[in-house]
Amino acid sequence: MRTSLYVHVPFCVVKCGYCDFNSYAIADHVAHDRFLAALDAELAIADPPRRPYTVFVGGGTPTYLDAGRFAKLFEILGHHVDLASAAEVTVECNPESLTREKAAIALAAGVRRASVGAQSFDAARLRWLDRAHDAGAIRRAVGALRDAGFENVSLDLMYALPGETLADWKSDLREALELQPDHLSCYSLTFERGTRLGRELAAGTVEPASETIDAAMFRLTREHLGAAGFRAYEISNFAGRGGPSLHNDHYWLQGDYVGVGPGAASHRGGWRGTNLKTLDAWARAIEAGLLPTGEAETLTIPRRLGEALWLGLRRADGVDLDTIGERLGTDPAPHAAHIIDRFVELGLLERSGSRVRLTEGGVLVADSVAVEFLAT
Ligand SMILES: C[S@@+](CC[C@H](N)C(=O)[O-])C[C@H]1O[C@@H](n2cnc3c(N)ncnc32)[C@H](O)[C@@H]1O
Ligand code: SF4
Repeated sequence: MRTSLYVHVPFCVVKCGYCDFNSYAIADHVAHDRFLAALDAELAIADPPRRPYTVFVGGGTPTYLDAGRFAKLFEILGHHVDLASAAEVTVECNPESLTREKAAIALAAGVRRASVGAQSFDAARLRWLDRAHDAGAIRRAVGALRDAGFENVSLDLMYALPGETLADWKSDLREALELQPDHLSCYSLTFERGTRLGRELAAGTVEPASETIDAAMFRLTREHLGAAGFRAYEISNFAGRGGPSLHNDHYWLQGDYVGVGPGAASHRGGWRGTNLKTLDAWARAIEAGLLPTGEAETLTIPRRLGEALWLGLRRADGVDLDTIGERLGTDPAPHAAHIIDRFVELGLLERSGSRVRLTEGGVLVADSVAVEFLAT
């Protein structure tokens, strides 16, 4: 079974109001150095394969590290894994901190794919999201990546912000396409508990976009990007010249991966572990020579099956029940056939042989269809 590697860099210049990723606004270089030393030690203990299938360096904000420390990050990775042999190596880049120098460092280290968090090109929406950059910085970041030689650049965008109109969203899509990205991820804003926006929602001081607007924006995204030659290979992901993200597709197909860094998750054949979340707790475990696993569970076969359908149905190609059955050593039918049949009758799923996928109508209610399989 091929295994991927995820590397989590937990620092950001600011904590965005919507974000519940494990990230902290820590500018202290001592903390950055402690992180790098502990990451090196964790890689030695966690022992990922020398030749991982894909590598994803995310966060947090990897590019928040200064150029010297950013180079050190890749030097450390290069000691433990052969980046050149991976099918895909991605680094997440934030517009305010990606420089030409850092783009060149990443490329020289073997990174071939850059994922830039643009979110929007509108000054007011960027401010509302607490983003530390303007539209000009997004353009400069993409320019720096292209100048360095990156041929696979992806942009992240967010829609369905309170008060945002269809015309606003169309304008963001148009601006993004002008940068000729090779891949796009477009996410509908989620109000996560524990974030500033989550608290504002609970206090009633912010009103989310209506479901009607959200659905209209979702449809507009598919139409607009489809017309521009992008393939909606997953609910929120659109492949242009760069093709799909192999790393994320590996997650959706329940592949094995080793995650290093604070709060990073790992998955190996039904075993799932999550690292201690805070920098201090995570680093302290490693400094004591221990694996920094905080929580771990061995998933039951019905749970793995439920997750295989829940995740896999987000893909345009859907899932192949025979492949899942072979991988898990059990026939999916007794667990899932009644749910699949019900949704086929409702016109939300279609089945052809052993392959099951969402219909055009099903895609619109993907989350409510997919979640049913988790209850099996
Ligand atoms: C790991 S996150 C952040 C990556 C990078 N640090 C940045 O800020 O651009 C990846 C993407 O998830 C999306 N995202 C994060 N929180 C979200 C939320 N609450 N709702 C919708 N999309 C979200 C954003 O588009 C973001 O770029
Ligand atoms: S969205 Fe990105 S920059 Fe903002 S807090 Fe989350 S990880 Fe950091």
